[in-house]
Parts: sequence; structure tokens; C-alpha cells
Amino acid sequence: MARVALVTGGTRGIGHAVSVALRDAGYTVAANYGGNDEAANAFKQETGIPVYKFSVADYEACADGVKRIENELGPVDVLVNNAGITKDKPFHKMTKEQWDEVINTNLTGLFNVTHQVWPGMRERGFGRIVNISSINGQKGQFGQVNYSASKAGDLGFTKALAQEGAKKGITVNAVCPGYCATDMVMKVPEEVRQQIIDQIPVGRLGQPEEIARCVTFLAADEAGFITGSTLTANGGQYLD
Ligand code: CAA
Repeated sequence: MARVALVTGGTRGIGHAVSVALRDAGYTVAANYGGNDEAANAFKQETGIPVYKFSVADYEACADGVKRIENELGPVDVLVNNAGITKDKPFHKMTKEQWDEVINTNLTGLFNVTHQVWPGMRERGFGRIVNISSINGQKGQFGQVNYSASKAGDLGFTKALAQEGAKKGITVNAVCPGYCATDMVMKVPEEVRQQIIDQIPVGRLGQPEEIARCVTFLAADEAGFITGSTLTANGGQYLD
């Protein structure tokens, strides 16, 4: 039986590439999404991967959503916590709402979804959790106090939970993508984006598939000795 993998935010951007890569590696994939029905339907048509709509920021919705996935596809053995948002503003202009939205999705979302699959992984003695953090959780970024804090939090979450999963066959790792060619990065004003690209030694944005490659590596059954680690893929922009 193929292992079941749940990818949050799995219908667009990096999540889209991760869903497809896991499917191609033989997993049964469930792609979660938060709100964009049009993109989710197009993704489903294109890939044949089933989509599940729920907000990772809502604990009860995550409980219902994961139950639905497990009833339809089977127990989740691989969880990729990819869903994330930005609300960029210099700190003096950032509202409490912009802070809360980003923290609730990018950090509390990891608690909300992982908490649903963790007991089953412990019982079965197997699990793979891959958290998509960011270069900006490692180095900080002007205009992203909320996002950088959430993504740095994801790294703490990863390292602490890895220690709890170790004896149960569950690995917990993080991937830190740099700037990739996704809608999220395309939202950055063009001149600012060009300044960012100028700081990337490989001279270009990353491709979502290059991040998906990191995820399939960490999700593999053979990756059982890798836990609590951070895999960086940023074109050499920040070396940590
Ligand atoms: N360092 C220092 N100063 C900077 C700066 C930087 N990196 N970026 C902007 N500034 C300065 C500008 O020079 C300008 O200064 P002056 O006022 O002296 O001219 C000032 O900040 C602009 O301030 P504003 O109040 O006008 O800013 P704004 O409200 O228009 O917001 C911003 C600007 C939203 C922060 C915009 O600069 C921006 O989008 N920056 C990029 C943020 C970024 O990298 N986001 C990543 C999104 S992708 C992602 O997050 C994925 C991932 O994981 C990598």
C-alpha cells in the first residue's frame, strides 16, 4: 500500500510542486488548500490529486479535514506543513491583524495540523514531517517581522518535536527555501525583487521543483536517520 502524504497549501507554488513530486514518487497525495477554489480545481484537473479545503489556522477545521482525508485515503504517514502567507509591512506600519494572521497560519498552523496526525504516527511507529520554513526565518527580512518570526518559530518547532518523535520512528525536519518563482515572491514590487535577485549568487530565483526535491528526500522511508535538521535551498544567498 502506498503511503499517504498530506501537503498543506498543496495546490499552488511550492506546495503544488511538492504534491506532484510525492505523487510521482509513489505516494497517495492529499493536497490541502485554504481559499482559492479556482486554483484548487485547476490543480485537481491537471494532476488528478484530490484536494481538501480547510484553514490551517483553524484547529477544529484541521481536525475535521484530516479525519476526512484519513477516511478516504488512509492514515497520513507523511505531512508536509507548507501552507504559508505574507503580510509584508515595515514594523511601524504593521497592524496587530497582520501579525496575528501570519503567526496563526505559518506557525500555529503547524501545531493545528501536526497535532491531528501525531497520535497515529506514534501508534504506527512511523512518520515523516517536513516543515517549510524560509531563508527569512534564518536571516530576518526588512518588512517581514511577522513572517520572519513565524518561520524562525517553525525551526524551533522542528527541533523540539524531532526529539519527541525520535523513539517512535517519526522524523521532523525543516526545509528553508530561498526566493523562488512563486506568486508569493511575484507580489514583491518589481524593483525590490530585482534587488533581491542581485543578492542570489546563482543569479536567479529558485524553481518550486528544486524545493520539492528536498522534501521527497526527507520524506523517504530511507531518511530515518535524518531528524531535527534544516535543509537550506537558496541559491547561496544565505549560508547558515
Ligand atoms: N533594507 C533597508 N531599507 C529598506 C529595505 C531593506 N531591505 N527595503 C526597503 N527599505 C526602505 C526603503 O529604502 C524606503 O526607505 P525611505 O523611506 O528612506 O526611502 C523604505 O524602506 C520604504 O518604506 P515604506 O514605508 O514606503 O514601505 P512600504 O510600506 O512601501 O513597504 C515593503 C515596503 C513592503 C517592506 C517592501 O519593501 C517589500 O515588499 N520588501 C520585500 C520584503 C520581502 O522580501 N518579502 C519576501 C516575500 S516572499 C517570501 O516571503 C518567500 C520567502 O520565504 C523567501
